[in-house]
Amino acid sequence: MCGIVGYVGHRKASEVIYNGLLQLEYRGYDSSGICCEEEGVFYQKKDIGKLRDIQEKHDLLSLPGNKGIGHCRWATHGGVSKENAHPHTSMGGLFKVVHNGIIENYMELREELSKEGFSFETPTDTEVIANLLEHFYKKNNDLKQTLKMLLEKLDGSFGLNILCKDFPELLIGIKHRSPLVLGLGEGEMILASDVLPIIAYTKNVVYLDNQEIIILSKNHYEIYDASLKLLNKKVSHIEWTSSVAEKHGFDHFMLKEIFEQPEVVNQIIKEYVDLENMSVDLKLNPEMEETLLKTKRINFVACGTSFHASLMGEFMIEEVLRIPSEVQYASEFRYRNPIIEEDTLFIPMSQSGETADTLAAIEDLKNKNVPVLAVVNVPKSSIDRLADDSIYMLAGVEIGVASTKAFVAQMIVMYLLTLYLGQKKKILNPTQIKRRLEDLKLIPFQMQHILEDDDYIRSIAEQYHEKGNAIYLGRGINFPIALEGALKLKEVSYIHAEGYPAAELKHGPIALIDADMPVFVVATKDTKVYAKLKSNLQEIRAREGEIIAVTSKGDQEILKYVEKHIHIPSNSYLLTPLLSIIPLQMIAYYITILKNLDPDKPRNLAKSVTVE
Ligand code: M6R
Repeated sequence: MCGIVGYVGHRKASEVIYNGLLQLEYRGYDSSGICCEEEGVFYQKKDIGKLRDIQEKHDLLSLPGNKGIGHCRWATHGGVSKENAHPHTSMGGLFKVVHNGIIENYMELREELSKEGFSFETPTDTEVIANLLEHFYKKNNDLKQTLKMLLEKLDGSFGLNILCKDFPELLIGIKHRSPLVLGLGEGEMILASDVLPIIAYTKNVVYLDNQEIIILSKNHYEIYDASLKLLNKKVSHIEWTSSVAEKHGFDHFMLKEIFEQPEVVNQIIKEYVDLENMSVDLKLNPEMEETLLKTKRINFVACGTSFHASLMGEFMIEEVLRIPSEVQYASEFRYRNPIIEEDTLFIPMSQSGETADTLAAIEDLKNKNVPVLAVVNVPKSSIDRLADDSIYMLAGVEIGVASTKAFVAQMIVMYLLTLYLGQKKKILNPTQIKRRLEDLKLIPFQMQHILEDDDYIRSIAEQYHEKGNAIYLGRGINFPIALEGALKLKEVSYIHAEGYPAAELKHGPIALIDADMPVFVVATKDTKVYAKLKSNLQEIRAREGEIIAVTSKGDQEILKYVEKHIHIPSNSYLLTPLLSIIPLQMIAYYITILKNLDPDKPRNLAKSVTVE
């Protein structure tokens, strides 16, 4: 979703901003623009399309000056057009604004401004911000008061970078419900919507919180709260290097991230498992440890892939610990009036830690004083900071819009959370925990085996890349894998795909089965519904459906029921989903490549969905 980079310092701003925006491309966008300032004059270029094409056409890098703001836009208010691309300019040309988020009351504000004589060149909510700034500034001639008044007026989510002609040395930012991070360099500052554009210049950052205003020059910054009280914010140090955002020889980030999965599992084990004593420590704060002891019910809220991983958590917690658990879409939960029983722990799960719906659900829970333990990949993200405590997924930076390694990391965290709760609440004894950790230790090697089947899995993709539809089936713990397999295929290859619990097929979707409908089935032998699943497969075959199954190594019997199979190594049924998802991710990737599409930048999608 939209990305922002602002710069003030000793370098050519257009270069820092352009390179920074390239780092944000993964978030998904449809247009881009940069405005730089030199000696009180604004120089701006913007257009629709990919940044490199805009550079080719307009030479963004020729923009002069050591200060500027840039943006990649994911259209919300107003279509994809050059005019609607950011930066936006106030009517009198005094302010330039780039914006990440949505202004919910923009129509109302637009009408108020129209009555004051302002006219608009675009239907965007961001142009309203630029004009509001000019309106307030003309009234009081005071920059800080103007920013305070703006903050009071806007409803919605906004990460803003602002330039004002009257302050050639200053860059301004405001944050509310959309991320904004300040990078503190030597004689230079970068204000961006995530850390990736910053890490090439400095590792020292300040994360802004909601309702905060920042005013900065190349050597100095001041952060204020909404009442203009000066704040003293903590400087954090980022460990990442800029190489995290490189492909390291892979054609795409998606493939690189699929191949990184064994290493991700190793990292998580290293961090949370004591291999000597065969126990788990999720490194929670003492208050959360107390909460866990009292917890009688666990509810998850999440979106997309994180929702699927939460389903896995629900299954594991209920199955192994007999603790009631349920999962809800964050976007639905936030508008419900949920009945929350005493001693319920909420677990929001989010790779980015910035998903607007999940964030809103947490805000609601915090208002109700319900304990919240987040599972996030990005430390210091909004969700991490809002929750009472967090478990980090440790998947490393995930650039591919289609989540792969984060999903695997989420499933492992669910597994470890189950063991940890079992250990703390004495539901599982040390021998049981040891046995389950032994199973987990095998996973990285088993994943490696599957990845080595790369050519074979690609050959399967070759047979199906021209299909228009696909069905994914699984039962029990494999059902979330069917959902996730279908999501992967549709989001990167644009092939329509749906996941179902296998037995649900006969209640409707079976009408779709014919010789042209590939059916991908997670048919590992380890679940108690294996025998039932075979009947479901018969039903598909009787209607000429073609079955491609993920099966357990050595299972010869299942081969009678399926056209194609991909064997995966055996492990405990709670862990085989970590293995069965890999061929499905690879099939989605290879089908996309065979269709000449870019899996890293699927149309209409954003990596971090920071608007409702
Ligand atoms: O960052 P989050 O985990 O909160 O993101 C949730 C979804 O937007 C995300 O999983 C989305 O579905 C991905 N495109 C899946 O590949």
